[in-house]
Amino acid sequence: MSHVLIIGAGGVGSVVVHKCAQVSEVFSRITLASRTVSKCKAIAASVKERTGVQVAVEQADADKVAETVALIQRIKPDLVLNVALPYQDLPLMDACLATGVDYLDTANYEPPDVAKFEYKWQWAYKERFEKAGIMALLGSGFDPGVTNVYCAWALKHHFDEIHQLDIIDCNAGDHGQAFATNFNPEINIREITQRGRYWEHGEWMETDPLSWSMTYDFPEGIGPKKCFLMYHEELESLVHNLKGLKRARFWMTFSEQYLTHLRVLENVGMTRIDPVRYQGAEIVPIQFLKAVLPEPASLGPLTRGRTCIGCVFTGVKDGKEKRMYIYNICSHEEAYREVGSQAISYTTGVPAMIGAKMMLQGRWKRAGVWNMEEFDPDPFMADLNTYGLPWTVIEL
Ligand SMILES: NC(=O)c1ccc[n+]([C@@H]2O[C@H](COP(=O)([O-])OP(=O)(O)OC[C@H]3O[C@@H](n4cnc5c(N)ncnc54)[C@H](OP(=O)(O)O)[C@@H]3O)[C@@H](O)[C@H]2O)c1
Repeated sequence: MSHVLIIGAGGVGSVVVHKCAQVSEVFSRITLASRTVSKCKAIAASVKERTGVQVAVEQADADKVAETVALIQRIKPDLVLNVALPYQDLPLMDACLATGVDYLDTANYEPPDVAKFEYKWQWAYKERFEKAGIMALLGSGFDPGVTNVYCAWALKHHFDEIHQLDIIDCNAGDHGQAFATNFNPEINIREITQRGRYWEHGEWMETDPLSWSMTYDFPEGIGPKKCFLMYHEELESLVHNLKGLKRARFWMTFSEQYLTHLRVLENVGMTRIDPVRYQGAEIVPIQFLKAVLPEPASLGPLTRGRTCIGCVFTGVKDGKEKRMYIYNICSHEEAYREVGSQAISYTTGVPAMIGAKMMLQGRWKRAGVWNMEEFDPDPFMADLNTYGLPWTVIEL
C-alpha cells in the first residue's frame, strides 16, 4: 500500500496514472501534479470514469526545487515518478534528496541550452542517494527501459556473452497528420537531429544525423521498413554495464514524409534551440514550433497501426554462436481503447508503472542511482506480460 506522486500530465503521464489506478493493491494513493492543473483534472476524470479510482491533483512547477520539497513534505509520497521533461530530472532528484523519497524517470537529463543527453549528470548523484538511503531508477520507459531489461534477461537466460546488440524501434502507425511527433516535439526533434553515434570495438563512432539506414523486415505482418541509425541514451548505460559488448547500435523507422518535413524545418531554422529576438521578445524557435504542432496526447484517437520495438542479439552460449530477437508489438487502437492514448505513450507509461511497482514492492530496492539492466529482469518481464506489453522471443 503506497502513495505515488506522478509529475507531468502529458501523453506519458496520462498512461502512467491510468495504469497505476489499475493496480490499486500497490498504488493505493495516487497524486498527479503538473504545471497546468487543468490537464491533471482531465486525466483524473478519465481515470475515475474508467476505473472508479480517485486521483488527487496538484499544481507544481518541477523546476522549482523548494516548491516540490514543500509539496512532498505536505502529501508524503513514497515515490516520485517523473514523466515531465528531461529538464526536470535534476531538480526533482534534488527534491527527493532533500525529503528522503525514492525517484524514477523515463528519460535522462538534458540541459535546456545544449541538445545533449548523457547519464553523467544523474550518475553523479549516486553517492548522495546511497548516503540518504534512497533509490533512483533511471530510464523506466520502453527505450530506454524495456530494451535494457530485454538485454539483462537475454544475458541471464540465453547467452554467456552478448557481442552485438541492435535496438530497433519501429512505429508502423499513422496519425494522418502532415507532421506530428508521438512524444514531446521539443525533446523528440532535439534527439533526432543530433549526430548518430554507436559503439564498436571499444569506442564511440559518429555519423552525420540520419545518414545511415537499413531495411528491417519486422514480424507479424508489419513487413520491411527503413530504419535510421541514431544515438539513444540506453546505449551509454548498456555499454557500461554489459561486459563483452563489441558493437551496440540503435535504429528507428521514419517515413519519407516525416523526414522531408524535418529537413525543411531544420533548413529554415525552426529547430534551433538558441533564442532569437522577435518583435522585442526572445523566443526559442523549437519551442515556438512545439506550440503550433499537435500535442502528442491529442494523437490518441487519430492513430492507427502498431509499434514494434525490440532487440536483436548476437553472442555465444556454451561455445556456440547464436542470434536472437525479442520484441513487443503494441496496437495504437487497443492502447487508445484501454487508456485513451496512442501506443508511444502507452509503451512508455506501462514500464514506468512496472518500474515503480518493482520499487514499491521491494523487488528492486537498493540505495543509489541505477539503470534498469542492473536488476533481476525476471519479475519485470513477467509484469510486461501481465500489464499490456507481452513479448516474443525468436531464434534467428
Ligand atoms: N523511455 C521512453 O521510452 C520514452 C518514450 C517517450 C517519451 N519519454 C519521455 O517521457 C516524458 C514525457 O513525454 P510526453 O510525450 O508525455 O511529453 P508531453 O506530452 O509534452 O508531457 C510533458 C508534461 O510535462 C509537464 N511539464 C513540463 N515542464 C514541467 C515543469 N517544470 N513542472 C511540471 N510539469 C512540467 C508538461 O506540463 P504542462 O503542460 O502543464 O506544462 C507536460 O504535460 C519525456 O521526458 C520524454 O522524453 C520516454
